[in-house]
Amino acid sequence: MEIKTVVGDITGIKSGAILVTHFEATKTPEGAAAAIDKKLDGAIANLIKQGDIKGKLNELTLLLGPSKLPASRVAVVGLGKKADLTLTKVRGAIAEACRALRGKGVADIASAVIGDGVNGIKTDIAVQAMAEGAVLGLYTFKRYQTKPENGNGEVKSLTIVGKEKAALGKAAARGKIIAEAVNYARDMENEPGNFMTPTRMAEAARQIAKKYTLKVEVFDKEKMKELGMGGLLGVAQGSQQPPKFIILTYQGRQSKDIDIALVGKGITFDSGGISIKPSENMADMKDDMSGGASVLSAVMAVAQLKPAINVTAFVPATENLPSGTALKPADIIKAMNGKTMEILNTDAEGRLILADALCYAVKSGAKEIIDVATLTGACQIALGTITTGAFTNNQALIDKVLAAGKQAGENAWQMPMFDDYKEMIKSDIADIKNTGGRYAGAITAAKFLEEFVGKTPWVHLDLTGPISDKEKGCLVKGASGVPVRTLINFVLSEAKK
Ligand code: BES
Ligand code: MN
Ligand code: ZN
Repeated sequence: MEIKTVVGDITGIKSGAILVTHFEATKTPEGAAAAIDKKLDGAIANLIKQGDIKGKLNELTLLLGPSKLPASRVAVVGLGKKADLTLTKVRGAIAEACRALRGKGVADIASAVIGDGVNGIKTDIAVQAMAEGAVLGLYTFKRYQTKPENGNGEVKSLTIVGKEKAALGKAAARGKIIAEAVNYARDMENEPGNFMTPTRMAEAARQIAKKYTLKVEVFDKEKMKELGMGGLLGVAQGSQQPPKFIILTYQGRQSKDIDIALVGKGITFDSGGISIKPSENMADMKDDMSGGASVLSAVMAVAQLKPAINVTAFVPATENLPSGTALKPADIIKAMNGKTMEILNTDAEGRLILADALCYAVKSGAKEIIDVATLTGACQIALGTITTGAFTNNQALIDKVLAAGKQAGENAWQMPMFDDYKEMIKSDIADIKNTGGRYAGAITAAKFLEEFVGKTPWVHLDLTGPISDKEKGCLVKGASGVPVRTLINFVLSEAKK
């Protein structure tokens, strides 16, 4: 989809629909809505007076064939109470409106800058949010439908009308790059396991590298053996698909140092292994590579935004399947840093492959590490499907990551990492065991990972809701692409220091 920006009068724009907004408890149309209303001989004002338009959040009212405008329709979207407007609501409202208009066969939408100046929202930030909301909200995954449903066309363009050409264009481009990266992660996550294998994840990284001239390396089994990646090899030994360790590097400044390492779990299907999962909902485990997809997609966006900072994504990728060669409960394997790990449950596989990836990131000299993983069901139980669990060994770093998430409208919540939790994963016969029992499962998993980062400042994000069951704001049914925007925001904010 194309995001255009123009300076001028919205009433003169030819499009399938002009989108204007209305706040709850406001008696008359304001801003662009007022200008449009004049051309409609007060139709919007009348509908407000009659109570048809209330301005409730995401309420959509369509006025057809307005004669004095070159546009075919006017759509009024509610934004809720003015004092409560946030960027998340701006993104959500435009996403909902775009989807509704797509349903009517509208191909081109025009809108003034939504939320400009309200509650301190700056013009460029609002424009970026609009671009993000439109691109995210209109996302579909139709590759496998030979006759796609809802086939009433596509929204081809959003024209944002504002006052200052340069600022508008930059902000719109930034929003589009970021949202398209999220959609790229969604595509990877929505792909079933028979397509999105470790090999295909590596191919995706290679394609990104080629398109944006980045450095990419892919390690195979032999190299993993050389490096002593016993965790990744251990999980992979039950599968016929060859495992891959993917490294994608963006260099934004004159130095080989890695300023930020982004480590993402790449389990392309998690059956649980020998400790097999119940069949109900097992299909959801095709998205167990969401962390890996997120870090590759974040680097893809960073490569286009070009901040002066070095960022490398590390993705250990494999399936977790049961077979005659699979890991068994009670097996003991050795991670890259020499620590021995006792397997009590082969379904706690994410931490085993991340152990090696974290060791490798540390050995590469990364100054800061963020890992992203669909690591535990326990985190979903604790926080529900709308909040990411955040864990750290460094408060200053997590504060920055949480702030980046807040700005992106992706909620994360810090969980405790008290030392006493470590006792729950003490093994009787190895250095550490891979489960700590039923209680505090998300925390003991994070304590396990902490064993492999040494003193490097590190944040672990446990993704709890990568699959959405309905359309809501920027989310559509299926993969969410969380926390790609958090990661991009974090990288950009680190580069600005
Ligand atoms: N990929 C799962 C975690 C998961 C489960 C994410 C459901 C999202 C929804 C992970 O590999 C796993 O199976 N974790 C186990 C750990 C347990 C065996 C200690 C879990 O959470 O049950
Ligand atoms: Mn598992
Ligand atoms: Zn898993």
